[in-house]
Amino acid sequence: MKKVGVAILGLGVVGGGTYKILTEHKEFYKKNHGVEITVESVLETNRQRALELGVDESKICNNVAEICSNPEVDIVVEVIGGVEPAKSFVIAALNSGKSVVTSNKELFCKYSHEIEKIAKKNGVGLFYEATCVGGVPVIRTLLDSLQGNKITSMMGIINGTTNYILTKMSECGSPYGEVLKEAQKLGYAEADSTADVEGYDAAYKLSILSSLSFHTKIPYTEIYREGIKDINNADIVYGKQLGYVLKLLAIGKNGENGIEVRVHPTFIKSSHPLAGVNDSYNAVYITGDSVEDVMLYGRGAGAMPTGSAIVGDIIYCATHPTHNYSTFKNTEKADPATKFVKNFESAYYIRLSAEDKAGVLAKVTSLLSKYSISVSQVNQENCGTAGTAPIILITHITKENNVKKAVADINATGFAKVENYIRVVS
Ligand code: HSE
Repeated sequence: MKKVGVAILGLGVVGGGTYKILTEHKEFYKKNHGVEITVESVLETNRQRALELGVDESKICNNVAEICSNPEVDIVVEVIGGVEPAKSFVIAALNSGKSVVTSNKELFCKYSHEIEKIAKKNGVGLFYEATCVGGVPVIRTLLDSLQGNKITSMMGIINGTTNYILTKMSECGSPYGEVLKEAQKLGYAEADSTADVEGYDAAYKLSILSSLSFHTKIPYTEIYREGIKDINNADIVYGKQLGYVLKLLAIGKNGENGIEVRVHPTFIKSSHPLAGVNDSYNAVYITGDSVEDVMLYGRGAGAMPTGSAIVGDIIYCATHPTHNYSTFKNTEKADPATKFVKNFESAYYIRLSAEDKAGVLAKVTSLLSKYSISVSQVNQENCGTAGTAPIILITHITKENNVKKAVADINATGFAKVENYIRVVS
C-alpha cells in the first residue's frame, strides 16, 4: 500500500480539524483510496494543544527545518495564516521537495506567482482548495469541471463571519459588536477580525476565484472593497420591508468593457438563490456561457469544513502522479492588457433623513435626475427625530460615480442628509 506522510504547520482551528479528519478516517482512506496517510509531524508551539488532540509527543516539532529534512514527510499542510512566517515555511517545504496544501488565502492571493513558480521548479504540488469558501469545492470546480466555459460572472457570499453577523442582525436585531463576538467564539473569524469585517478576507478570495474564472491575475488591490462595519440595523429592517436581504457580496464580471471586481454590502431580492444562504454558510453563483448558472453552497468556515477541503487536497495529491498548476496567467501584477471597470453599474438603496415638509422629496429627486438617476421605489417612514423623516429610495440601474456625486450634492443642501447608500442586485 502506498504510504504518504503529512506534516501540519499550526494546530489552530483548521489544523486541529485537519488532524482529526486524517486520524479518524485513516482506515477509510486505506480501504477506498489505497493510501495510508499518516501525520508524521506537527509544528505547534502550544504543546498542550497538540497533546490534547492526541498527537504523540515525539511528533511535535519546534522548527520547520526538522520537517523539511524528515524523509517521512511528503506533504506539508500550512494552516498558520498571514504572510510571514507562513510564506518562508511554504517556500522551505517546496524547496525540500514536499508538496504543499494551504488554506492561506492572503498568502496565495498575494504571492501565488512566486510560490507556484517554486513548486513547478521542484516538480511538487501546490494545492489551495481551502483558501476559498471553506468546505465548498469551488477551486477544483473552476480548475477542472468548468474549464469548457467562458465564465462571464460570479457572485458569492464568501465570508462566513460577516454572513453570520448579517444573518443574526437580521433575524434577532442583535447589535453588530455582540454578534461579532459570537462569530469569534465559534471559530469563524480570522485571528484579527478586521480582515473579515472590512472585507479583506472576501477580497483575497475574490482575487483567487476571479483569477481562475477569467484566466488572468486579478490582484486584490484592483478590487473595490467595502466592509460591514457601517451597517446599521435600521438599513436591514428598511431593506426587508422592501423585499431585500443584506449580504456581503463578492462580485466578479468579465464583460465587453473589461473586468469588474468588487466586495461590498449588497441588497439582494429575497427570491434570489443567494438570499437564503445564512449563518456561516457560503455560496458561489457562477455563470458560464455553456453551463449557464451553477451555484455551489456549503459551510464557508470552521474546523471540519475547512479541514475537509484540506484533506481532499491531500488525497488528490497522494493519488495523482503528476501535478497540475493554476489555469490563469499567474503574474505578480495584472496583465497590462486587462481593463478594469471602476465606474460600475448597479441599482442603489439610499437612506436619507430629510426635513418633513412639502417639496423636499421633489428637490432630492431633482438632484438625482441631474445625474440621470431614476427612482424605482420610495418609502417614507414616520419615526424620524423631530421635524425629520427617514426616506428610503431604490434607484434604477445607474453608475457608481453618479451616485457619489448626487450624494455629495444632497448632503450640501442642508435640508437632507444621506445616512447610507447600499448597492442592490435584483
Ligand atoms: N474568516 C473566514 C470566514 C474563515 O469567516 O469566512 C474562512 O476563510
